[in-house]
Amino acid sequence: MIAQKAKEITPFIVMEVLEKAAEMEQQGINVIHLEVGEPDFNVPKCVSVAEQKAFDEGRTHYTHSLGDPELRKQIAEKYKEEYNVSVSPGQIIVTSGSSPAILLTLGVLCDAGDEVIISDPGYACYENFIRFIGAKAIKVPVYEEDGFQYRYEEIKSALPTEHAQ
Ligand SMILES: Cc1ncc(COP(=O)(O)O)c(C=O)c1O
Repeated sequence: MIAQKAKEITPFIVMEVLEKAAEMEQQGINVIHLEVGEPDFNVPKCVSVAEQKAFDEGRTHYTHSLGDPELRKQIAEKYKEEYNVSVSPGQIIVTSGSSPAILLTLGVLCDAGDEVIISDPGYACYENFIRFIGAKAIKVPVYEEDGFQYRYEEIKSALPTEHAQ
């Protein structure tokens, strides 16, 4: 029995297009991929070597629930070096991609019925993430001439009156 909230998730068209493209490639058709936003390079050599080393050393078990402590320490150092932002390893959670991180964040911040502002146009999955956790997506238009950044007045008019000051 599928839960109602799962049934309400609308298809992420990109994956359907990707599957169709894969079928066409199987038939020998040359496909130019414009559907998924993926890097056009493979995993760097140093990453695949480190992965192989971790497998060889049997580092294939549960880690700390927030992610490997050494990795979180390195991420904290990277933030300091690259953005001059101080984040402690305890503030970092490692997830497999941004989708689980977004879902976790929404789950922590939103109660049922809460409203979440998202840009229109925007990434197609955000609305589904928000609906899945029982909150409501409020779409705020963004415009090409602003580099798709939010306009103050548009955000203000999307807020409930008690917050719109
Ligand atoms: C704007 C935006 N947010 C989130 C995601 C999801 O990323 P991930 O594959 O890391 O879950 C994507 C993927 O294309 C994206 O373009």
